[in-house]
Amino acid sequence: MPRQLFVTTALPYANGNFHIGHIMEYIQADIWVRHQRMRGTAVDFVCADDTHGAPIMIAAEKAGLTPQQFVANIAAGRKPYLDGFHINFDNWHSTDAPENHELARQIYRDLRDNPGGSLIESRTIAQFFDPDKGMFLPDRFIKGECPRCHAKDQYGDNCEQCGAVYAPTDLINPYSALSGAKPELRNSVHFFFKLSDPRCVEYLQQWTQDGKLQPEVANKIKEWFSVRSNPDGSTSEGLGDWDISRDAPYFGIEIPDAPGKYFYVWLDAPIGYLASLKNLLGQRGIDYDTYMANPQLEQYHFIGKDIVTFHTLFFPACLHFSGRKTPDNIFVHGFLTVNNGEKMSKSRGTGLDPLKYLSLGMNPEWLRYYLAAKLSARNEDIDFNADDFMARVNSDLIGKYINIASRAAGFIAKRFAGQLGEVTEDGAALLHQLRSEVGAMEQLYEAREYAKALRETMLLADKINAYVDANKPWDLAKKPDQEARLQDVCTVCIKAFRILTCYLKPVLPALATQVEAFLNIVPLSYANIAQPMKAGHVIGTYQHLMQRVDIKQLEALFEAPEPIEAASEIAYPGGEAIAPTISIDDFAKIDLRIAKIVACQAVAGSTKLLQLTLDVGELDDTGEPKLRNVFSGIASMYKPEDLTGKLTVLVANLAPRKMKFGVSEGMVLAASHADDKAQPGIYVLEPVAGAQPGMRIH
Ligand code: MSP
Ligand code: ZN
Repeated sequence: MPRQLFVTTALPYANGNFHIGHIMEYIQADIWVRHQRMRGTAVDFVCADDTHGAPIMIAAEKAGLTPQQFVANIAAGRKPYLDGFHINFDNWHSTDAPENHELARQIYRDLRDNPGGSLIESRTIAQFFDPDKGMFLPDRFIKGECPRCHAKDQYGDNCEQCGAVYAPTDLINPYSALSGAKPELRNSVHFFFKLSDPRCVEYLQQWTQDGKLQPEVANKIKEWFSVRSNPDGSTSEGLGDWDISRDAPYFGIEIPDAPGKYFYVWLDAPIGYLASLKNLLGQRGIDYDTYMANPQLEQYHFIGKDIVTFHTLFFPACLHFSGRKTPDNIFVHGFLTVNNGEKMSKSRGTGLDPLKYLSLGMNPEWLRYYLAAKLSARNEDIDFNADDFMARVNSDLIGKYINIASRAAGFIAKRFAGQLGEVTEDGAALLHQLRSEVGAMEQLYEAREYAKALRETMLLADKINAYVDANKPWDLAKKPDQEARLQDVCTVCIKAFRILTCYLKPVLPALATQVEAFLNIVPLSYANIAQPMKAGHVIGTYQHLMQRVDIKQLEALFEAPEPIEAASEIAYPGGEAIAPTISIDDFAKIDLRIAKIVACQAVAGSTKLLQLTLDVGELDDTGEPKLRNVFSGIASMYKPEDLTGKLTVLVANLAPRKMKFGVSEGMVLAASHADDKAQPGIYVLEPVAGAQPGMRIH
């Protein structure tokens, strides 16, 4: 009975392009999947964009896009990376897809209606609310003065100056990082998953400690069952309940029977694994429930060390207590750093730009080989080091492995019309030894011990190279009576090359395909290693299989990019891309009018806002001039007297907005750079003399 595997990598946040850390995770998983397929195992290997949550919603708003448009743009950029590094997902989906909405809502209902007692509970909690934005603020969007060292502008959960850990409510003079407004504490009903329920605790203790997880991972998890740290820095006993809801506005999945409440992104994100699978099966006309009910099905997730809690506590608990299959294992890897750099920032992804790597013509399989040569089954960090990279690729991969083919193939082609000969006696022993390693190789790949597998393979390559050095084909080639011997020695080399190629195939799939074509053989698998090419088999002409790494490429790869200002001014005027094209009809929907600022005053309680009284030439029912009240976030640039009496431009048909200080009846146009930290300043528009209040701007 062949195995049936369902494999995923973590779902990347759809707020930016891939960085090299993502690519490492995908390469690790892709190697494992290719290894499985070489054994004849059926695998469905899927991923998706993790689309939901406040940060993405806010980033979309900043970019002037809907969250759906924003994540669609990110999704559209995924393919060059995946194709470029030969990462062979069977499906790439989205957590905002209908399959995920349905599955997440159904899993929630099943947890709520658990026959042994509901695992969902609602509680009222107090949270900071931004009155300007009209939304509850996630901790990372609240800033203020550190209660311990009094450093200004610290985040809501910890101080970067003194390292203090606290709750956002402990901040002195807190303000919203979104609007600058003073947040208000407001009560709201939240839904909790009762992780502290004895059923959960007992189940998870067993699930995490039954020996399937990596020992270092299981040990870390063990601590969470005894102590846990609270936001305020204190600690509590055992597993805490998990807050799974967020209030509107939120880009996410609405909770059943709870209008205005959405699942916290981490509730629906791992369910996205199942949604992507379900979508794939749908494309193939396979029933999802039947597929999942197969008792033979094995489910594995590759993830980084930073998201272990979600995958070993929350996710298995959600699945088990909703009556579903849980993962067979979670494979945790460490972080990749570049040239001893710091851990790459999730948002910035510094160090090694994967697309730049490809655009410099660097071979993607160099990177696959190099990373594999460093990866083990352990959860430990690895470093990409440029010198080490060049040494390993040039001396091991090319110097030891590729060279075997390039040394022998020329003679076979030129002297023997591509025909293989017999195998020498000492050669036979060598080939036997190589072939007998196949079981060990399979096991090393199975156990994700790629570094060991490659080390073993290079030791075997050393043996072939020693055989070549002992038999000196270049000397044999000079002696007319040694023709047959030359053919046989080269035959041993070509046969050995075939075996080594099989051992490297999970890591170097494109190269293996080239070699299969060159050797004129069927696709290599562990099983067909035992069926060697026969004497008389004709191989193709040798074409150079792989270039060496050129130091110039590495220099170019790590060359500092253009200074940010210069680069961003060329690419993005004013620091942001031009918005998508609109039609003249779209433009006509916006009614822009010349407005006279008849009065302007400071707003008590706000350092950001000015209150403008505008004359747009409107009259009320009685024929009296009707003035508009508009709040504008321009107090950092203008004093009231700077603006009084001036003309400007008003968006006259914008829906009125209720703010803490009153209703704002429109919006005054002003210019600013997208990065208001790098280039602060906001400039109100003023028409050339002659324009009159009320004139429309066409
Ligand atoms: N969206 C969540 C995962 C949801 S899974 C249901 C997330 N996204 S992420 O984009 O921040 O990270 C995706 C994966 O990349 C995670 O497994 C993370 O550990 C991994 N890595 C992020 N930076 C990394 C390195 N520098 N090195 C290796 N892996 C890294 O977390
Ligand atoms: Zn501090």
